[in-house]
Amino acid sequence: MTTPMNIRSLMQPHMLRLEPYEAVDPPEALAERAGIPQEQVVKLNGNENPYGCSPRVMEAIQRLDRFHIYPDSEQRAMRRALGEYVGLGPEHIVVGNGSDEIIDLILRLFLAPGGAVIDCTPTFGMYRFSTHICGGRTVSVPRDDAFRLDVDAVLRRASESGARLVFIANPNNPSGNTTPREDVVRLLEAGLLVAVDEAYYEFSGSTVADLVPRYPNLVVLRTLSKWAGLAGLRVGYGLMDPAVTEVMLAMKPPYNINQAAEVALLVSIEDRALLLERVGRMVQERERMHSLLERIEGARPWPSEGNFILCQLPEGAGKRVYEGLAKRGVFVRYFSTPRLRDCIRISVGLPEHTDRLVAALREVVR
Ligand SMILES: Cc1ncc(COP(=O)(O)O)c(C=O)c1O
Repeated sequence: MTTPMNIRSLMQPHMLRLEPYEAVDPPEALAERAGIPQEQVVKLNGNENPYGCSPRVMEAIQRLDRFHIYPDSEQRAMRRALGEYVGLGPEHIVVGNGSDEIIDLILRLFLAPGGAVIDCTPTFGMYRFSTHICGGRTVSVPRDDAFRLDVDAVLRRASESGARLVFIANPNNPSGNTTPREDVVRLLEAGLLVAVDEAYYEFSGSTVADLVPRYPNLVVLRTLSKWAGLAGLRVGYGLMDPAVTEVMLAMKPPYNINQAAEVALLVSIEDRALLLERVGRMVQERERMHSLLERIEGARPWPSEGNFILCQLPEGAGKRVYEGLAKRGVFVRYFSTPRLRDCIRISVGLPEHTDRLVAALREVVR
């Protein structure tokens, strides 16, 4: 008998050392965990849109008769529609299977094997995860005690490590604060390639997209997952210099956006008045949730410009509170890293979700 092959020995070593991305579970898994029916689950762990997508998206997908045809690999209609939405020409735009795909494409395009990427921690986990997948390493530059970016430290660590790429989530996930435009400009002027992730732009209103035509070393990331409620269909996009667009379009998987996602994007842009009105309601709800959290003894919510709030809990209480909420059917995001050990991140849901959360939190924190 031949010896069984050790298939892992054929795998790339860096993939075997990968720390997995902690993705959120679907509602049915959460319901099973809490032992309650799915309708009773309050899902505030994924920064999703509680209003869902535009009703016109559902109608358009039902009418769609193109599932047997490959989608447009050049993304003509989507790039035109997005161009009109953001005020830039289509030559600046690439659409991705979620903005996660644009993160991956940026890394595959700009990161040399073993190269370094600056990660301004704590921040969105995909920058680190995708960097490792692409065979690079992240150099962590911690944010200060109010989660502000330390620009001097970023420049210093970039020069020490040889990193040429920095990711900045703006507003930052999970802390909710924005980075001032002058800070981004300083990094651009220093010649770093800066990827500013504006996944929550519609909630914050602050953007550097207008700088894209001026700085070829700037890429702005956006998504329809949050404001347009399309997290499940996976559509995001990047705004960049035309020379970057050209190569990124050539290197991406040809049919990365499926027909249903393409139609969903086009209809969402058309129906943006309704979707942005819902965003306005979520911003109001975020502020109501913030003031309710402030009144809970021991809870300290951070101000946020996204559709989520990071809430600091008493020392040592993080995991217990997270588990107590989950037992009551309320699911939030818990982080185990030292900087966020006693924090939970709560997505903004419907007003009744906030009420369920606050009632549960009062019981659990006590
Ligand atoms: C900062 C940030 N960027 C990107 C994403 C992912 O967006 P998408 O669903 O478009 O991949 C998220 C999702 O939570 C996020 O928080």
